[in-house]
Amino acid sequence: MVTAMAEAPVKVPGVEGRAGKFPGPSLIPALTAIQERAGWLPREELIALAREVNRPLYEIEGLISFYPHFRTDPPNTVQLSVCHDLSCWLRGSDERIAAIKQRYGADADVEIVERSCIGRCDIAPAASVNEAPVTLAADAVDAKIAAAKAIAAVSTAAVSTASGAHPNGRHQDGAPGPAPARWPNDPYPTPAHRYGVVDAVLAGTRDTAGVIASLKDAGLRGMGGAGFPAGRKWDLVASAPGDVKYVICNADESEPGTFKDREILATQPHLVLEGLLLGMLAIGAQDGWVFIRHEYGPEERALAREIDHLRAAGYLGPDARGSGKRLNVEIFTSPGGYILGEESALIECMEGHRGEPRNKPPFPGTYGLHGKPTLMNSVETFAHVPVIARNGAAWWNAQGAGSATAAAHSGLKFFAVSGHVERPGVYCVPMGTTARALLDLAGGVTGGQALAAIQPGGASSNFLGPDALDVELDFATVQAAGSMLGSGAMVVMAEGTDLLAAAVNVLRFFRDESCGKCVPCRVGSAKAHVLLGDLLARGGGPADVDETVRQLATVMRRTSICGLGQVALGPVASVLKLSGNG
Ligand SMILES: Cc1cc2nc3c(=O)[nH]c(=O)nc-3n(C[C@H](O)[C@H](O)[C@H](O)COP(=O)(O)O)c2cc1C
Ligand code: SF4
Ligand code: FES
Repeated sequence: MVTAMAEAPVKVPGVEGRAGKFPGPSLIPALTAIQERAGWLPREELIALAREVNRPLYEIEGLISFYPHFRTDPPNTVQLSVCHDLSCWLRGSDERIAAIKQRYGADADVEIVERSCIGRCDIAPAASVNEAPVTLAADAVDAKIAAAKAIAAVSTAAVSTASGAHPNGRHQDGAPGPAPARWPNDPYPTPAHRYGVVDAVLAGTRDTAGVIASLKDAGLRGMGGAGFPAGRKWDLVASAPGDVKYVICNADESEPGTFKDREILATQPHLVLEGLLLGMLAIGAQDGWVFIRHEYGPEERALAREIDHLRAAGYLGPDARGSGKRLNVEIFTSPGGYILGEESALIECMEGHRGEPRNKPPFPGTYGLHGKPTLMNSVETFAHVPVIARNGAAWWNAQGAGSATAAAHSGLKFFAVSGHVERPGVYCVPMGTTARALLDLAGGVTGGQALAAIQPGGASSNFLGPDALDVELDFATVQAAGSMLGSGAMVVMAEGTDLLAAAVNVLRFFRDESCGKCVPCRVGSAKAHVLLGDLLARGGGPADVDETVRQLATVMRRTSICGLGQVALGPVASVLKLSGNG
């Protein structure tokens, strides 16, 4: 007999306990708060937390062991984190790290930790002293350490993030200087003009369908790496069934060579937040978050100030500017790990689980945070929304450069340029600008040397040789040239660079950052690194790479769950190809 089904009880978000995950609200904010207060996670505090929330201690230990930022021993007076990844390696990090270890290795007050990219590739070789970024290249690090010892804590408030102003960008060479007055994607001449599109939507003089239509017409692609069309994504999430939906801005940028989102967050948090608010209004979400890597302290503070402003100006709250709509935006600080940039791992983290990517589908657009439809875009994607919505798709299209169709070359693109260039930094250029023009903007190859190779899209993109310099930097053209635009990060390598060693450096990054969930990535990246490391130590080159590495590359590409494992050996394979051993 069929009986009417009782109405399913409404689940409180965050309390689902699916597939071996612990049910209940996330404990990560509580752990972050303890660490912020105590500087580490004392065991007695963890036991007290477990008792207080009635959750097993091993759940807490499982979280702590996954996230690299959590520590279970007290820190020394000086935490010196040194980066050894590609952009830093190209600028002599190995030698500088060795020298630093010699100088401070016996100093009981100084703890030296080699780290993956800290997002300061433009001051490479980069380091941080008690989280305050500093270049390892000069005496700067000695001064910072001395200051940290003197005051037992370094102020991270005023990080010099800029040097010489440039019409299209700014670079960092150590000397502080002004940022461009306004990046070209900022439609607002003064602060008083900001949030004009959100104002119009809240006042009912514009509808969000029109905003989505303009994103589609503009052909705006996701700037976080995959390039998924933004307007289509907004449409999909807007039409996904469900009353509760969420929006997340992915500010976890952690790949060697990528740091343009950092610059956007620092200089135009108003555009990122306006894009986020428009996303919330477009899909019908009340809650939005910016998920930001913990190394971006100064940028997080800029964001927090702007959120405070939004609250004070009445955009956030139960009745946003009298519209009757509730809007709330919070910052979620990452507990560390490159893999959290992958959208489903990020969501797992926000839910309070170990940040391992989910099998997809379902995608976050239909099953995201707490199982609800979730719109996730990167910092740069959101930052471009206001200008497109305000100036229109035709204006955006006209900003592009290059010889192909307007759709391929529409709009503007931020690039991080690092490695062997005269002026590493962030540049905002027309989409479709050639790699050569971008390189020129960054002052050319260091010391006027010849070019050996570039990675046009950050560490995970394939190396391209000097003959690719005239490739127009847009998604389709870079892909056709055998690499990818990724999130827009050009790493430059001068003639004389051991390209295989550079690619093995990238492989080490992926090995270190593999979350370990799936065997091909976890075991394959470690195995390949051992094989290639031995080969380099023997003085071998591309011609000596044996078949096992190629087989591992194929297996990892085909069978890894997420993009990390799929691309980990891509750069190595591309170097083999460039050298005629592909
Ligand atoms: C290993 C891995 C790391 C990623 N890291 C980031 C990141 O740091 N920032 C980001 O926006 N997207 C990152 N992504 C892409 C996200 O999964 C997702 O596609 C993106 O945030 C969507 O925004 P978009 O459409 O605006 O690009 C990463 C993907 C993978 C596979
Ligand atoms: S590919 Fe690597 S990073 Fe991605 S889920 Fe598998 S083990 Fe984790
Ligand atoms: S800070 Fe070293 S590679 Fe990014």
